[in-house]
Amino acid sequence: MTTRRKFLTGTAALGAASLGGFPHIWSKNSMLARAADGQIKVGVLFSLTGTTAIIEESLHKATLLAIEEINAAGGANGMEIVPVVEDPASDPATFAEKARKLVLSDRCVSVFGAYTSASRKAVLPVFEKRDNLFWYPTLYEGRECSKNVIYTGAVPNQQQDDFIPWLVENFGKRWYLIGSNYIYPKEENNYCKKLLAELGAEVVDEEYVPLGHSEFSSVINKLKAEKPDVIFSTVVGDSVVALHRQYHAAGLDPETMPMASLTTSENEVAAMGADAAAGHFTSAPYFMVWDSPENQKFVEAYRSRWGGDKVTHFVSEPSYFQIQLFKQAVEKLAPSDIDPVNIREALKGEQYQAPQGLVKVEPENLHTWLRPKIGRCKSDGQFEILKQSADWLGPDPYKAYPGQLCTAEGLKEA
Ligand code: ACM
Repeated sequence: MTTRRKFLTGTAALGAASLGGFPHIWSKNSMLARAADGQIKVGVLFSLTGTTAIIEESLHKATLLAIEEINAAGGANGMEIVPVVEDPASDPATFAEKARKLVLSDRCVSVFGAYTSASRKAVLPVFEKRDNLFWYPTLYEGRECSKNVIYTGAVPNQQQDDFIPWLVENFGKRWYLIGSNYIYPKEENNYCKKLLAELGAEVVDEEYVPLGHSEFSSVINKLKAEKPDVIFSTVVGDSVVALHRQYHAAGLDPETMPMASLTTSENEVAAMGADAAAGHFTSAPYFMVWDSPENQKFVEAYRSRWGGDKVTHFVSEPSYFQIQLFKQAVEKLAPSDIDPVNIREALKGEQYQAPQGLVKVEPENLHTWLRPKIGRCKSDGQFEILKQSADWLGPDPYKAYPGQLCTAEGLKEA
């Protein structure tokens, strides 16, 4: 449990910040939400019910863990971070409604939340209209350039640039693409198809199933008939569990027809049972087995807070480290200047030694430099890391769209 410490308030906090403080030259817009009375209010907006609760509940827990740790150690800039928790129930319209509440009624200076790109798209106008900040920890499809979102998950170049050529080389050139039916899988597949074309590989089928879909028998029949070399999966939520279980029950063999996923983490593996996941591949910047002192500390803290059987994964880890980045940004500001616009400016270029390794917020596009890795799931439900990028890899959210570039001034088109 959190040990409450005394938080510095008023002149003591102001003095502490002013000594090493960051020059606060930005917005003085009185409409902006602002920290006050020794408290920094933030929204926590992850689904605790509905089809993506399977993953979002763990993002919620990683977020609260980081907030509790920071508060137990004296807060951010001497102020307590106060989480305001809402459950948007895996429904984009509810995401938008709750986001409006957090920004307009609760006057949070930032909101941490969302898994699906459909829900991020739904809340975007709320943050853009009020110049507030939405912190999004999930891998996503790129092709977005907003000064009101901090993106701490991977974009396609960070998950696919090493992964696709490696799979083609090791398994072959006939690919079957299966995804949930919304923007994220379609854009990831768009990028995947470009890479496959460059490698002379072929897409034998491309299929989309509704969100929450759980009946994959027609897909399994097609896999049996078409015998692709690789099944590239971008299904999300409960569908990940259903697809793997039905593949396994059909007796298909990952040695000859593996699934290669951007969305299957230790969390979905725990839900489906390791038997159904063993032998399949995932590309991600983080795996729970990653060997670093920061990761050991994170895993131990997560398990001690939420249960010894719990897993950490490549979306819960950014959910955790983005709170640390938030703290670092807040600590560059005088307490009276803690508002979304100043936080954004203070965050640009900020680095943090995360469980996955050193990460950095790219000042141009507010995405994050990450450390991509390729993992193969083992029969104990953990991944063996087979390959990792030589160095951290910068985010290129418009890589599939040559001529378009996300810059600090907005989207530039050549
Ligand atoms: C996703 O929808 N960004 C997984």
